Amino acid sequence: MCGIFGYVNYLVEKSRGEIIDTLIEGLARLEYRGYDSTGLAIDGDKANEIFIFRQVGKVASLREEIDRIDPNRDVTFANHAGIAHTRWATHGGVSKVNCHPQRSDPTSEFVVVHNGIITNNKALKTLLEGKGYVFESDTDTECIAKLFKHVYDTNLANGHELDFNQLMKQVLYELEGSYGLLVKSSHYPGEVVATRKGSPLLIGVKTEKKLKVDFVDVEFPDSNTERVRINKTDRHGLLPVAPGDLSFHHSQSRAFLSEDGIPMPVEFFLSSDPSSVIQHTKKVLFLEDDDIAHIYNGELHIHRAVKEAGAATTRAIQTLEIELAEIMKGPYSHFMQKEIFEQPESTFNTMRGRIDFNNHLVTLGGLKAWIPTIRRCKRIVMIACGTSYHSCLATRIIFEELTGIPVSLELASDFLDRKAPIFRDDTCIFVSQSGETADTMLALQYCADRGALTVGIVNSVGSSISRKTDCGVHINAGPEIGVASTKAYTSQYIALVMVALSISDDRISKIERHREIIDGLKAIPAQIKKVLQLETKIKELCDNVLKDQKSLLLLGRGYQFASALEGALKIKEISYMHSEGVLAGELKHGVLALVDDKLPIIAFATRDSLFPKVMSAISQVTARDGRPIIISNEGDEIIGNGKVLANLQVPLTVDCLQGLLNIIPLQLISYWLAVSKGIDVDFPRNLAKSVTVE
Ligand code: UD1
Ligand code: F6R
Repeated sequence: MCGIFGYVNYLVEKSRGEIIDTLIEGLARLEYRGYDSTGLAIDGDKANEIFIFRQVGKVASLREEIDRIDPNRDVTFANHAGIAHTRWATHGGVSKVNCHPQRSDPTSEFVVVHNGIITNNKALKTLLEGKGYVFESDTDTECIAKLFKHVYDTNLANGHELDFNQLMKQVLYELEGSYGLLVKSSHYPGEVVATRKGSPLLIGVKTEKKLKVDFVDVEFPDSNTERVRINKTDRHGLLPVAPGDLSFHHSQSRAFLSEDGIPMPVEFFLSSDPSSVIQHTKKVLFLEDDDIAHIYNGELHIHRAVKEAGAATTRAIQTLEIELAEIMKGPYSHFMQKEIFEQPESTFNTMRGRIDFNNHLVTLGGLKAWIPTIRRCKRIVMIACGTSYHSCLATRIIFEELTGIPVSLELASDFLDRKAPIFRDDTCIFVSQSGETADTMLALQYCADRGALTVGIVNSVGSSISRKTDCGVHINAGPEIGVASTKAYTSQYIALVMVALSISDDRISKIERHREIIDGLKAIPAQIKKVLQLETKIKELCDNVLKDQKSLLLLGRGYQFASALEGALKIKEISYMHSEGVLAGELKHGVLALVDDKLPIIAFATRDSLFPKVMSAISQVTARDGRPIIISNEGDEIIGNGKVLANLQVPLTVDCLQGLLNIIPLQLISYWLAVSKGIDVDFPRNLAKSVTVE
């Protein structure tokens, strides 16, 4: 989705060229999230001048556009604030005028980059148009820039010169919706204000000297600032209010105080995603919803408009653990391929330190204290979207078998549409790779509001879902950058199996089953490695047989229904081929009509209790001249009346874990199908890595 990047240097002299390069590189690191246009704003040549560069298409096109305009790259700045954006069109089509930064007026007094949606933008636009503002874009963001100017001008006309963060407070009072926001202004050179509500934002801090303390104090309104808040009755009147005797920047940030009192050289990197900050610094501060970050004179201040009872009075400056190398492609052609091949390690990392294979014990640090509560619950509700939903489907059977607790599955959007009943004695499990998916987040809020216990199964540490759930398990798969989810699926699957094992480890009747599953888990990473050796065979199958097909059916039942749905989703999203996962038991209830000698059918026929039934479904297909591709266990002889198109063999594991191995050939099929069709695998059309809009 959209991405935000900002860069502020203070007493670290940088040329304009260097500043542009830093901003462009920051945007390039956000590319993997999906976007359709880009832009940035920096200081111009004259005092109070701001340059805006925008371009439709890739970050590389923005760089070309800047080169074409050719601003003087040699001018240097001891203090400068730049902001940049990758846009994913929501309000207004993909066009240059709709790119961010959006501006307040033709001289760009205020410029804004924004992630999210301003829901009352129509009302604000009407109001501002009534006051003479002329809108140039179709975006909801433009009203924010214009609102800044309006509130600033009106206050000034009344003799009130507001501090940048006070101005932000007044503007925020008028905004409804979700946002991550950076604002720059010619009235506040070298400064940036940033805020968030329901959209991630973090600030990286880079200094030569060690920070005095590793936190930033939260500044709550004092009696002075209280007086500048717009009275509720003035809402939308946008009237200025008396600020009292405001002194600018009256507080000092403890973290940035140097021993000798001399201002400290510092650089700040603001971003919606840690991956664009990590190459500069590992010291980061995650903003909370409604925080206003104000950067000026080399200091970072966090303000809040109101003081809630019990609110934290500091924000920690944390150390990010991810390494830049981890988010680079390495020897692979695409992130997706790299991530498919990482699965022997990523699945191992999910289990690392959590399973004692010798004593057959599972300990999930993030869940331990909550296990008794979960055991007492009446029902487990698993809620997720897309691939993450499929990992729930893949593990529901073993959850129910081991825990004896009824488990229901919910696609987050449908769950919200139905406003499904949720009770205090429910345990709701939210599965998400990114931890930022809007529908899953809303479902989490919904369940939390109803008093249910909320558990997260999340990959991104520090993400919204990870922070907002009562407890949970990080799947520790490492950053997943390819838009198609691959290694997150296998790690979510394993994490969920470990949760089921933990909940049921007090059940004597399940001891043998536990042992069998834990032994099975131990072998999984090596078995995945073996399945990955099918790559050459799969590539040939894609090039020679599947590439020119229009459609594909995937058949599975029991544990393998999830594999069929997940395989079909992978093929659709990456190779743009129509594919459908079908429950094998449903074949004769309609789908059989599609079967002929042309439609390729992939059938999951690995050995579990349902194997005979799957074989019978395959016979129904071959009897109608269907040409199946069969995924079976090593050594199994597949009888297909000579009609079997291909047989991909995978090692045998415990029934409830077989899906971990069976999905690998499908990931490879979708990857090689897409490559053979010349598709940009890591950035499939119309899709984004992190879906932060409903
Ligand atoms: C934690 C540490 C890990 C360390 C290990 C050693 C983190 C992120 N993990 O791992 O680096 O090696 O202890 O004991 O610091 N949580 C949620 N919602 C979620 C996911 C997690 O609330 O969606 C919570 C958990 O309840 C827990 C915390 O986040 O309080 C960390 O979870 P997790 O990383 O899974 O815990 P450990 O495996 O114990
Ligand atoms: C498919 C895919 C999506 C995501 C879905 C949920 O390859 O990536 O279907 O699984 O958008 O995303 P998360 O897991 O981040 O909540």
